Amino acid sequence: MKKISSHQVRADFNDLPAVLHYTRAAHELGLWASERILIERFFPDRDAPLLEAGCGAGRVTIGLWSLGYHRLTAFDFARELVDQAVSLAAERGAEAIRFLQADVTRLPRRPFSVRKPRAPTAPSNTHEGGHAPFAGALFMFNGLMQIPGRANRRQALRELHRVCRPGAPLLFTTHDRDHSPAERALWRLETLRWIRGDQDPRLVEFGDRYFEDGAVRTFMHLPDRREILEDLAVTGWSHAFDAMRSTLARESRSIRDFSDECRFWVARRGQPLGR
Ligand SMILES: C[S@@+](CC[C@H](N)C(=O)[O-])C[C@H]1O[C@@H](n2cnc3c(N)ncnc32)[C@H](O)[C@@H]1O
Repeated sequence: MKKISSHQVRADFNDLPAVLHYTRAAHELGLWASERILIERFFPDRDAPLLEAGCGAGRVTIGLWSLGYHRLTAFDFARELVDQAVSLAAERGAEAIRFLQADVTRLPRRPFSVRKPRAPTAPSNTHEGGHAPFAGALFMFNGLMQIPGRANRRQALRELHRVCRPGAPLLFTTHDRDHSPAERALWRLETLRWIRGDQDPRLVEFGDRYFEDGAVRTFMHLPDRREILEDLAVTGWSHAFDAMRSTLARESRSIRDFSDECRFWVARRGQPLGR
């Protein structure tokens, strides 16, 4: 049986039930209370150019626009979702948001390239000798964890590092494998399955799940905290903050129905340490 690939994940997000699910969330839910708290804490400058990876149907980017952020670029590799985001932005008077279709593990040169300084002597704010376009990045609602393969998730973090300025915050979320006794019990059972070799053969690594919930199929990697700290460190991001959502805000019933408990992370763009 074939392993889950990014090709499969993109097909799942382009599938009609998933498109309806994320479009409805973008239209009806907007930002979670916890997201808003962290955005306002770590992205205080509303004039800063920001990047949203895995924007889906625009729930977060259009929420940012409503808060007054106006230099926004958002992208997703699922064309159907990007089309929904563009149409919602037009409906909300947010046509100035730049939406693109792109894969975070291999961002195209434009508009993600590092601009060179005007003169060879001009001060540079990146170790690459150029001027990275973005002052901050977001990858919300576990999008980073929907990339199969740890090497690919690290590649995504490297790509975001490449297009962000030194010190730029990166806000993202993960599901937490160690969060509750029930989760730990479930993962102990899964450990035994992997030892015996009778795990779902489509999974790439321990920690992966492939949920087939009615018509919506979702790949998700559930990390532990140490894994994320290691991945940030080797891709040039410094850990700045992490906390479970429930410690930040009490979300409305509709938000809790849409999305489970998760861990929020903020890292700051530093120098890369290695490959
Ligand atoms: C759980 S959805 C969240 C969508 C939206 N940010 C929200 O919160 O409603 C995760 C998004 O990440 C996108 N995604 C996953 N892997 C990606 C990749 N390699 N490159 C770009 N987008 C990706 C998916 O297409 C999907 O839209």
